Amino acid sequence: MESNIKEKYKDLYKRAADVLKNAYAPYSGFSVGAAVLVSDGSVFTGVNVENSSYGSTICAERSAISAAITEGKREFEAIAIASSGGAAYPCGICRQVIFEFGNDIKIITGDNSESLEVNEIQDLLPKGFRL
Ligand code: THU
Repeated sequence: MESNIKEKYKDLYKRAADVLKNAYAPYSGFSVGAAVLVSDGSVFTGVNVENSSYGSTICAERSAISAAITEGKREFEAIAIASSGGAAYPCGICRQVIFEFGNDIKIITGDNSESLEVNEIQDLLPKGFRL
């Protein structure tokens, strides 16, 4: 991936890292922050919110996307993910949720903002489901 593309997404990754501290992860101890970039330039963030009924947990990516959708934003360019445990890729459910909104949404991951990896959702979720 071109270095100027990585440069472009540094700030987005930092927004994801900024909210890490707000993650509610008392069960796994694994905090995740996500920041989704909308085509109009706005950014929405989310964190993982765990629950004592473990299956009720929501991931950071879906929290961020839900926040954007709530404000009427549906055109996503990229989503950055930061975690307390190094580079974290979206789980299968989150991949499907991201894929709902486009084939070429960029997934920004990395240990820190200086070592970013950029992938498109269609490459992380080949042959994703569509109705
Ligand atoms: N988690 C996320 O927030 N995003 C992912 O894509 C993977 C996993 C959260 C869920 C749970 O709170 C913790 O990480 C450990 O699985």
